Amino acid sequence: MRKKDYELATNIINTWSTYIPEEAITEVVKTLRSKWINTGKKETDLREKARRKWKFPYCVAVNNCTAALRACLAMLGVGPGDEVISTPFTFIATNTTILEQGAKPVFADIKYEDLNIDPKSIEERITPKTKAIMVVHYGGNSADMDEIREIGRKHHLPIIEDSAHALGSMYKGKYVGTEGELVCFSFQVVKIINSGDGGLIATSNKTYYEKLKKIIWYGIDRDGKKTNLLDPLPESFRGDVLGFKYNMNDITATLAGAGVDHFDEAAKKRWVIGERYRKELTGYTKIKLMKYYNDRTPNYQIFPIHVENRIRFAKYLRKYNIRLNINNRRNDIYPMFGGQRSDLPITERADQDVVLLPMHTDLTEEQVTYIIKKIKDAVK
Ligand SMILES: Cc1ncc(COP(=O)(O)O)c(C=O)c1O
Repeated sequence: MRKKDYELATNIINTWSTYIPEEAITEVVKTLRSKWINTGKKETDLREKARRKWKFPYCVAVNNCTAALRACLAMLGVGPGDEVISTPFTFIATNTTILEQGAKPVFADIKYEDLNIDPKSIEERITPKTKAIMVVHYGGNSADMDEIREIGRKHHLPIIEDSAHALGSMYKGKYVGTEGELVCFSFQVVKIINSGDGGLIATSNKTYYEKLKKIIWYGIDRDGKKTNLLDPLPESFRGDVLGFKYNMNDITATLAGAGVDHFDEAAKKRWVIGERYRKELTGYTKIKLMKYYNDRTPNYQIFPIHVENRIRFAKYLRKYNIRLNINNRRNDIYPMFGGQRSDLPITERADQDVVLLPMHTDLTEEQVTYIIKKIKDAVK
């Protein structure tokens, strides 16, 4: 591959970018110089900071959100023969984790107005094989958690929230992760906090927390009392539960910790852009914005819209150096998930007309004005 393929184009307004606060750079140098780069104090500090900031009752740090999701499924005992009801309208990681556990994702349909899983459709898909419900807060706009939690309670099903997009988003006055039983966040490169890769699991359930702490590190309790001077494993280790190597190291935790400290400034930039898009792009028949509910606060991790003839729209904007994107295709089209389904009419529609507008911290006010103008020209 030629070198230029690794360079980010500077003459183009991209859909996404990577936010790195200066402090992340200085702090990571200190961590490297300390030579303690394994999971340690920085990882503990990160979890404490995140717990305080977003009011997570308990919190486990992992090396990415895909690992977080899989660890939750494994901890719940989801395995071969089990079904997990999930959304088909998401990045594939939501559903590959279910396959990794040997279980089957059963796709519920979504709601056109916010691209989140439809609670009614979840209930229709429940069978005796259902072991859990997987929810995505698409674009950082929370799903209908009251209704979904009610279904979970009624059918005794745990709920995993794939909150890769939703750090700092709110539902009914509380941060996503303050109340959920298993809530997984991502620090992948385009997220509001990015540590290269990384993630967190927030939980309100102490038993889950105790189990997750071990499952993400080979089944070993890091806080366990040492057996003796020589044995690296604690007394409590029985080797009876298969775990993973999903722990977060201190290099990653240092970057993520700086991300927490600078979260508000990064989130505010997105907020200003998102609010402008909503105000200035309302009332055009060829585009339809997401529904943003009064009882929820999005973080505008991404800004999806519905648009007529999305390829023509994207080509038009590309002529003006504005690059659009899509986050995902409907997952059921991929053979690994069992092939295209005919019972997902809303997903089918969204799969044809959703695009993401540029949304990131490097966008200037002038660029946002320019993007809005060109979109208006494209749909007039
Ligand atoms: C909805 C969703 N779930 C899961 C993931 C996977 O996150 P990670 O890259 O941290 O594993 C992503 C990635 O962006 C995502 O968008």
